[in-house]
Amino acid sequence: MMKHVISINDFTKKEIFNEVLPGCQSVISKARIRKPISFSPEKKAIFAFFEPSTRTRGSFVEAARLLGWSYDIIMGEEATSLTKKESMANTVRMFALQGADVLVMRTKIEGAQRFAAEILENEGYEIAVQNGGDGTNQHPTQTFLDLLTIAEKFGRLDNFKIGFFGDLKYGRTVHSLLCALSHRSNISLALVSAPETALQEQYKNLFSDIEEGESLDLLNSCDIIYGSRLQEERFTGDPMALQRARGKFKITPVILNTLKNNVLIMHPMPYVQEFDPRIRKDKRLIIDEQAWHGIPVRMYLLNEGYKNRKKITLLKPDQKSQFNTMAEMPLTQYFEKREKRKTVNRYFLPITKGTVIDHIPNGLGLEIRKFLSVKNIFTQGVKHIIEDVPSGKHALKDVLVLENIFIPNQLLSVISSFAPTVTFNIIRKESFRKVKIKAPAIISGIGTCPNKNCITNHDPEAVPKFTHQDNGLRCYYCEKHFEQKEVI
Ligand code: NCD
Repeated sequence: MMKHVISINDFTKKEIFNEVLPGCQSVISKARIRKPISFSPEKKAIFAFFEPSTRTRGSFVEAARLLGWSYDIIMGEEATSLTKKESMANTVRMFALQGADVLVMRTKIEGAQRFAAEILENEGYEIAVQNGGDGTNQHPTQTFLDLLTIAEKFGRLDNFKIGFFGDLKYGRTVHSLLCALSHRSNISLALVSAPETALQEQYKNLFSDIEEGESLDLLNSCDIIYGSRLQEERFTGDPMALQRARGKFKITPVILNTLKNNVLIMHPMPYVQEFDPRIRKDKRLIIDEQAWHGIPVRMYLLNEGYKNRKKITLLKPDQKSQFNTMAEMPLTQYFEKREKRKTVNRYFLPITKGTVIDHIPNGLGLEIRKFLSVKNIFTQGVKHIIEDVPSGKHALKDVLVLENIFIPNQLLSVISSFAPTVTFNIIRKESFRKVKIKAPAIISGIGTCPNKNCITNHDPEAVPKFTHQDNGLRCYYCEKHFEQKEVI
C-alpha cells in the first residue's frame, strides 16, 4: 500500500489514520522488547543524513536493528561526493546500485526526496525513498510519531485546541503535523511566534479556527502544546531577523502553572531554551515518550517500504495533454463565417494567417504575451492584445492576436495549464482549426521555482514542475505556493 514516505500531503486521510497509524501502533509492543524480531540481512536500508540528526537517524537505525536488517549510515554531505559537487541524482543512483531497498534521506534542499524517488522509479530501481526531513518543508515520519503520541495519550485525534509556539515558519515538523491534523474535526489552533517566524498562509489556510500572537498566554486553554526550536540554520542572509526572533519563548514553572492541568507538552527536539530545566521532568512534558515512538513508527515504515519497493507509485508527470479540435474547415469557409461575426470585426482586425488566442481570462492576456516573448516566440509577425472584450452577458475576456505567428504544441499546452479556458484559432494557408487543450495536471517546462532551496535550483536533472493551487501554483518538489507571476 505504501512505498515512499515523502510528504504527508501524499497520504489520504484514510491512509494516515486507518492504515499507517494502526500499523505503527501494532509494532509498539515488539519495539519495547528490544530484541530483533527477525534475521534478514538481505534487506538493506541506507540512511543518508545530510543534516545533523540525533533522534530521527538514531531511531531509524534502531528500527533497522530490531527488524534484523543490514544498513549503512551516512552522516553529513562531507561524507559523500556531494561536497565534490556530484549531483543528488548521481548520489542516489549509487545508493540504489549499492543495494538499498529503502533509502532514508535528510536534506537541507527541499524536494530532494521526491526527486530521488522519481529518478529511481523511472530508471527501474526497486527502492523506497523515505524523507527524514527536507529543509523547511516536510518531516512525515516525525508526524506519524507525533500522531501516535497524541493517540496513545489521549485516545483520540479530534476535538482539541493545539498551541504551537516558537519557529513556525521554518519548523518542518510543524508543517507536516498541521497537514495531517487538517483532516481531523474540531481542531482549533493557537499560534505563538515572533513575526519573523510566523506560520505561512499555505498552512494557516488549512484551518478555520486560529488565534495568533506573540504571547504565551494564548497557550492557557490548549489541550496540547507543541514547541519548535528557532531554526537558526535556515536564516541565511537575514541576521537581523534572526537577532529579533531569538530568545523569545520559554516555558518556565510560572508559565506551566497557567496552563491546563492535563495539558500535554510536545516537542520534536532538540529544544534549546524552550523549556526551563526545572520543568524537564514534569509529567506534562512528554517529549521522551514522544521521541521513543520514533522506533516503532520507523520499524513499521521501513517494513512497508520494503514490501512495496517494486510498486510504481509516483504521479507520471508527463501525462499527455489532450488536444480537442472544436472546429476545422477550409480557409475560405472560415472567412465567410467570420464576416458575419460582429465581435471579431468590432474589436480587432481579423488576420489571414497566424494564431488567435481567445477566451483568455480577463487580465491574463499580458501575462501570456510576456510568457511567449520569454520563450522567443515573437521573432516575426505582429501581435495585439485586446483586453476587455465582452464574453457572454457580463463577463470580459482578453484576446491575443498573433499575426504570422505559430506556437509549438508544448507551449500551447503550457498556456492552457494556467489559462484552461483559452481556445486557439490557428489560421494556416489552407485551413482553419480551433483547438482547446486539456492540460496535464502537472505543468512542466515553464518557469523556475522561486525557492532558492528547491531541488530544481540545485540539480541540473531536476526540471521545475508545478500544480495548480488556489489561484496560484505549487511547486511539485518543494511544495511551496507561489503566485503565478512569481514563477513565470
Ligand atoms: C526536528 C527536525 O530535524 O526537523 N527534529 C527531529 O527530527 N526530531 C526539529 C528541529 O530540528 O528543530
